[in-house]
Amino acid sequence: MNNLSQDTKNILGLQLPTDPRWVDLASISLEDILTDHAYCEQKAANSCISLITKYNDKDELVNELSPIVTEEWGHFRMVLSELRKRNLQLGKQRKDEYVNKLMEFQKKGGNPEERFLDLLLTMALIEARSCERFKRLSEGLTDEYMRNFYRKFMESEAGHYTLFITLAETYINKEKVRSRWKQWLAYEAEIIKSIEVRGDRVH
Ligand SMILES: [Fe+2]
Ligand SMILES: [Fe+2]
Repeated sequence: MNNLSQDTKNILGLQLPTDPRWVDLASISLEDILTDHAYCEQKAANSCISLITKYNDKDELVNELSPIVTEEWGHFRMVLSELRKRNLQLGKQRKDEYVNKLMEFQKKGGNPEERFLDLLLTMALIEARSCERFKRLSEGLTDEYMRNFYRKFMESEAGHYTLFITLAETYINKEKVRSRWKQWLAYEAEIIKSIEVRGDRVH
């Protein structure tokens, strides 16, 4: 994924940076962030499994996403072990307002290609925003161990969001992918603007 053109990298750009207050809030409620983060990784693994079972005829997708399932589940385990180190339980999954709002933008009926594209772009977007949030934590926390901890996630999720775009372009006309991606970026910025800045959530 390192051979992406600058053009491709540019189109991946999120339109709205995270509110700077978020890192401060997150640093106060790091335990809540860990629980929320664990479930983000679990959902990432689940979503990849769903894509594999749904699009089992698409060899490249199956091949590329199979190792990502392992990687995301590895992330889940890394976060879980941080919770255990603090004698914390995993806790309950919270309602994921950010992801729910993204899903409202997905095309549900009609053209199967458009539905497929939206599933991939939703994944790309969640990865991109998670990557941006982990970058904030890796730069803004005072605890060096936790800064390094989040840097690893940041690097990994950066690879994932480019993978989902590349997969979309493998199966669907590039122009179509790009124009829909621009719509998604604009929609996502509106979501970020509309939801409360909370330190107990990754998004
Ligand atoms: Fe992950
Ligand atoms: Fe990921």
